[in-house]
Amino acid sequence: MRIDIITVLPELLKSPFEASILKRAIDANLVEVHFHNLRDYTTDNYKSVDDYQFGGGAGMVMSVEPIDKCITSLQAERKYDEIIYMTPDGERLNQSIANQVSLKENIIILCGHYKGVDQRVRDKFITREISIGDYVLSGGELGAAVLCDAVIRLIPGVLGNETSALTDSFQDNLLAPPIYTRPREYKGMKVPDVLFSGNFGEIEKWREEQAYQRTKERRPDLLDE
Ligand code: ADE
Repeated sequence: MRIDIITVLPELLKSPFEASILKRAIDANLVEVHFHNLRDYTTDNYKSVDDYQFGGGAGMVMSVEPIDKCITSLQAERKYDEIIYMTPDGERLNQSIANQVSLKENIIILCGHYKGVDQRVRDKFITREISIGDYVLSGGELGAAVLCDAVIRLIPGVLGNETSALTDSFQDNLLAPPIYTRPREYKGMKVPDVLFSGNFGEIEKWREEQAYQRTKERRPDLLDE
C-alpha cells in the first residue's frame, strides 16, 4: 500500500511514522508513506495556501490551485483508489471504514486547515471524507495520523500475530473481553479460574460472554448495528 499525505504541516505528522508498529511496517516495505508540503505547490512569493472567504465571514479557506497542482502531479505518476479529505463534517471513522481503506493500493489523504478547503477541491477530487470524531481539531494532520494507524495495522504482515487484528475490539461489533497476564494473583486480585481450565471451548465461551456484557454496558449502540 502507498499513502500520500498532503499537508501544510508535515512536521506535525512525521513522528507517529517514526516509532513502533508504523515504523516497522514502513521498514518492512509493507507500506510507503510520502508527505507533500502544500507550500511546494504555490506560485506566489508568499507561498500562500489560503485566502479570504467569498461572501465574507471569519476564517481563511485553503485555495484550490496548490491542492489541484499537488493532486494532479501525483495522479500523473499512478492511479489512486481513494482521495480522502480529513474534515469534521465527514463520515465518522470506525473499524469498518479502516478495514475498507486497508484494502486499497494507493491513497491520497488531504489534511484541511483553517476553515477548510474550497468546495471545488471536494467536488473535483475527493472520493471520501472522513472525520475522527465530533470535535474540531486545528487541522486534519492528527486525524490523518489516526486514520493511518488504524489502517496500517490491518495490512497483512504488519502485526506479529496474524490473528491479532481479528480479535480487536469492534472487529465483530463487540468490544474486546478482559485480558490478563502473570502473576495469577496480585495483591489479592485473582485472574478468573476459567482461563486456567485448559478447556479452550470454555475459555472462548467465557470471552464471548464477557465481550457481549461489556458491549451491552458500555456501547449498546454497537449491538443495534
Ligand atoms: N479536521 C478538523 N477536525 C477534524 C476531525 N474531527 N476529524 C478529521 N479531520 C479534522
